[in-house]
Amino acid sequence: MPELIDGKAVSEKIKSELKAEIELMNAKGKKVCLAVIQVGEDPASTVYVGNKEKACKSLGIVSLMHKLPETITQEELLSLIENLNKDLTVNGILVQLPLPAHIDSGEIIKAIDVNKDVDGFHPENVGYLCTGKEGFVSCTPAGIMELLKHYNIDTVGKECVIAGRSNIVGKPMALLMLKGNSTVTITHSKTKDMKEVTKRADIFIAAIGKPKFFTGEYIKDGAVVIDVGMNRDENNKLCGDVDFNSVSGKASAITPVPGGVGPMTIAMLMYNCVKAAKRQYGAAFE
Ligand code: GUN
Repeated sequence: MPELIDGKAVSEKIKSELKAEIELMNAKGKKVCLAVIQVGEDPASTVYVGNKEKACKSLGIVSLMHKLPETITQEELLSLIENLNKDLTVNGILVQLPLPAHIDSGEIIKAIDVNKDVDGFHPENVGYLCTGKEGFVSCTPAGIMELLKHYNIDTVGKECVIAGRSNIVGKPMALLMLKGNSTVTITHSKTKDMKEVTKRADIFIAAIGKPKFFTGEYIKDGAVVIDVGMNRDENNKLCGDVDFNSVSGKASAITPVPGGVGPMTIAMLMYNCVKAAKRQYGAAFE
């Protein structure tokens, strides 16, 4: 059996450290506050937003929920963001994606104050990541780097293959692994020989959103396998993009679903909220 990478345990450790920091800030009269915007009632988004709210509550972060109807206009949404940008009591702003088709997500993300962009989706923060400067980093890839660090998995000189090229996971993940001095390849739906590429990986990161797609045949012996997928299998059970049982015969370490990458995403969101608050409150809190 490969080593199980326990994202739940690592995320609890990060959250308990953050909680202590937040208590210190509160004692000095400073609160940490996250504004969350959900448009419409997509069931998956409702679950994600609910989990974020719960995490805020357990850490002592104030969460301001804005649940807006599907029919809201782009102008109305931009106006809310403008107000939250100006509001000095709000440290972080998160707009849950996807947004309805009549709203231009790119414009909405661009409207968020770059210093309150705790999702790390603003083009300026993406630019900072790309050029190696300090900014907000997308939570899932940041959480994966924390997991690798916690388990002493060295990235230097390793072949890292990432399946999936989304703005939220695949692309920022590639930039972080590059920063960690890995040799990075991204595969996607147009890749000619997927297996040939994924089998090169010392570290394989799956983020394509297809239940149990990657079987042992895609994996090199001894590889570290990180599964970002959050899907339902044929029995409606939660599963990743990786066929856990099949890959277990090959991998040296693997993240389970649930209990792997998922909890880390929320922990890193909380981390980004505290970081945003510290930046806003200045030197005394750095
Ligand atoms: N939709 C799916 N994942 C995410 C995320 O990390 N942040 C936001 N805002 N929306 C999402």
